[in-house]
Amino acid sequence: MNILLLGSGGREHALAWKMAASPLTDRLYCAPGNAGIAREAECVALDPADPAAVILFCRSASIDFVVVGPEAPLCVGIVDDLEAAGIKAFGPSRAAARLEGSKGFTKDLCRANAIPTAAYERFTAAAAAKAYVHARGAPIVVKADGLAAGKGVVVAQSVAEAEAAVDMMFSGALGDAGAEVVVEEFLDGEEASFFALCDGETAIPLTTAQDHKRVYDGDRGPNTGGMGAYSPAPNIDAAMSARVMAEIIEPTMRAMRAAGTPYKGVLYAGLMITREGPKLIEYNVRFGDPETQVLMLRLMSDLVPALLASRDGQLRSFDLRWYAEPALTVVMAAKGYPGQYARGTAIEGLDAAAAVEGVEIFHAGTRAEGDKIVANGGRVLNVSAVGKTVRQAQKRAYEAISLIRWPDGFCRHDIGWRAIERETT
Ligand SMILES: Nc1ncnc2c1ncn2[C@@H]1O[C@H](COP(=O)(O)OP(=O)(O)O)[C@@H](O)[C@H]1O
Ligand SMILES: [Mg+2]
Repeated sequence: MNILLLGSGGREHALAWKMAASPLTDRLYCAPGNAGIAREAECVALDPADPAAVILFCRSASIDFVVVGPEAPLCVGIVDDLEAAGIKAFGPSRAAARLEGSKGFTKDLCRANAIPTAAYERFTAAAAAKAYVHARGAPIVVKADGLAAGKGVVVAQSVAEAEAAVDMMFSGALGDAGAEVVVEEFLDGEEASFFALCDGETAIPLTTAQDHKRVYDGDRGPNTGGMGAYSPAPNIDAAMSARVMAEIIEPTMRAMRAAGTPYKGVLYAGLMITREGPKLIEYNVRFGDPETQVLMLRLMSDLVPALLASRDGQLRSFDLRWYAEPALTVVMAAKGYPGQYARGTAIEGLDAAAAVEGVEIFHAGTRAEGDKIVANGGRVLNVSAVGKTVRQAQKRAYEAISLIRWPDGFCRHDIGWRAIERETT
């Protein structure tokens, strides 16, 4: 098959790496891609947000299957557009992508189907939202309804902080995403990311991961898109996984189907494991970044037939196999990220780093300049490794990082600490 992958980050590099290894893949293209993806796929200068251009390219390159990486094109309906043009595509329809595109939509779905989640209310004006904040007290969580690239959630420790968040969102600071707000109960527990592959009717569990969102060691500093991740999540055993499927994923699949908007694609549940059990924090309608980088390192089976089975409604008798060994990824970011940072700084030593045993380097934001690799984004590299233990995977990743010469980059030095602490006790 000729396959087109849409996106340009570390998630897409990991997907491209896995898909390029499939015997089903004839030609693999990626739009727009990056310098690392260019080793696995032919990169094409296309905007994934321009469906007409994507369709035109699919026709000219005889594309049989399109795999959509990021959420933005899914939420505006790229899969509907492609399918209407007769091109098979992996991912949810626009209507089904509301599970990520509107937090209020998902909260209402949880309420209507008794899916465990934080108590909440939806608001379209500041006064009522603040009255609810006062009635409930702090800590409390304020969320913009729409897509906000990780900037739409404030976990407020005081009523004043929650009120400021409500004002910020309704002031238009987040654009349309903040036109509606969800205020919800603070959940106490440990987070985990749970991935399921869905075909509209059947959902099969993939595996789990945990990530580090804060920019500095010790999980301090501002939130980022993710500074590292590891898989599996040590707080999800087989029994917990079965509960998540039965209490969260399966009722969601039934509800989406009953509404005439069956869910296809990857369903990524952000969970809080509380004393009462798993609760849904949010859904994402695509693979996680950087979680996909560790998922792909642990996936033994061919990815391409699984994505096709999701599109074709054929997951009922599908079986995916995983390596038991954990995987870990450390994000190298440009100095200044998640604030202002420079582009175009040179990165050296990547070949030596990639030669460390068990290591795979996925590019997140890079560009080739002649035969040099330069930074081209905030999150730039995902230095990833497998190991017999999380500790060994971590040791290998940091050994590789020590061989990378990029004075303008930085990383956290404690990715995986929670899992390693568990391994030692
Ligand atoms: N109800 C909640 N209780 C405690 N922490 C929360 C709650 N909701 C969100 N968070 C924290 O905020 C983070 C971001 O929230 P999330 O709903 O996943 O939004 P997004 O990923 O779209 O920014 C979560 O990963 C979690 O750490
Ligand atoms: Mg989230």
